[in-house]
Amino acid sequence: MSHSKRLLFLLFSVFTIGAIVLTACGGAATTAAPAATQAPAATQAPAAAKKLEIFSWWTAGGEADGLNAMFDIYKAANPGVEIINATVAGGAGTNAKAVLATRLTGGDPPDSFQLHAGLEVEKYSPDQYLQPLDDLYASEGLEKVFPKDLLSLLKYQGHYWGVPVNIHRANVLWYNKQIFADNNLKPPTTFDEFFTVAEALKAKGIVPLVLGTKEGWESGHTFETILIGTLGAEAYKGLWTGKTQWTDPGVTQALETYKKMLTYANTDHSALTWSEGAQYLVDGKGAMHIMGDWTDGWFTSKSYKGYGWAPVPGNAGIFDALSDSFALAKNPPHADEATAWLKVAGSKAGQEAFNPKKGSICARTDCDLSLFNDYLKSAAGDWQKDAIVPSVTHGAAAIESWATAYKDAMALFATSGDVAATQAALQQACVDAKTCK
Ligand code: GAL
Repeated sequence: MSHSKRLLFLLFSVFTIGAIVLTACGGAATTAAPAATQAPAATQAPAAAKKLEIFSWWTAGGEADGLNAMFDIYKAANPGVEIINATVAGGAGTNAKAVLATRLTGGDPPDSFQLHAGLEVEKYSPDQYLQPLDDLYASEGLEKVFPKDLLSLLKYQGHYWGVPVNIHRANVLWYNKQIFADNNLKPPTTFDEFFTVAEALKAKGIVPLVLGTKEGWESGHTFETILIGTLGAEAYKGLWTGKTQWTDPGVTQALETYKKMLTYANTDHSALTWSEGAQYLVDGKGAMHIMGDWTDGWFTSKSYKGYGWAPVPGNAGIFDALSDSFALAKNPPHADEATAWLKVAGSKAGQEAFNPKKGSICARTDCDLSLFNDYLKSAAGDWQKDAIVPSVTHGAAAIESWATAYKDAMALFATSGDVAATQAALQQACVDAKTCK
């Protein structure tokens, strides 16, 4: 597929003036530096240990494993540096983004931090708080190893602000293969098939659809895939440019479909995170789970191999995409160590260590695919041939304030089920973002 197709991913990027709200504080876990091999002279004070603080929201299995694998590559190349692994739990950066904004504006930046490629960077006022990475891109030859569309997405105000480590897919239907085989079922390709399958599973006392909506973003994640499956790639993209109205009957239909799907979901979903929801599949208690492919990393971390994957109904041939990058704070406490970190993040070795565990494909185009499992090999193929659409829940489709209003409306919908009120709220969010009238 040509790069121009994936450039569409960029076309829906608009700059954000995000409200910064402090919602939580994060803990930091430290990874001890390797012991010094040489004792300091008796008369000298020991040299201060070199440090590097990396900020992310990667705490779940798979996510944490991937990050640690990249840390290992870093430590091998930079012995004696103590890595401070500053994580703030909460999928999709629910809590981390607010904590990060407060740290940046408060003059207490981590050295380097997780940032979705594209839109989030504006939220952090890059000219004030971030260091452009153009020199690093030049010294490491990064423009030659990332897809052009991704490079465009990463450029803001003429500069690169993050080094991308991966490409994630958001619109995956994970299922328990044994349950499907035992019940002679096939993964549903349409919403009608979904409801037929769900009825059959329900009759057997199996939870058809597993959700975890505890953190407030997961309902929006699920619904964006239903919007894609209902409207198709072009009309879905149009929602973020004003070409498709949120008053469209297709949006009503998607809300009705989601409402009906929720009647087949686990009743405890509001108490569960995404990974606690996925545990239903591992335990053989739930049949299907809609989530991004960090779930593949999480399953792998559990040594669980009984899962199958398919596009969410109606999503065949469409890749709902996002990318994680690492940014550099302006005047970071440990500048040299941070630059060395970004080199690892952009390197082939770093990405080959990180992505098979994280459940994502490399942002680089030259990774060795044989290192990846069957799911990730299939995702790499789909990335090449599918229509690419931007994920709103993970920063790619809309300005931050709009994405937040969208997520909040959909979190409420998961309990209210009020189609008319939710569609009005979604329309208002588009108006507030100055995309709809
Ligand atoms: C996304 C992020 C992924 C994964 C997921 C769940 O926003 O890009 O890397 O961490 O959240 O936390």
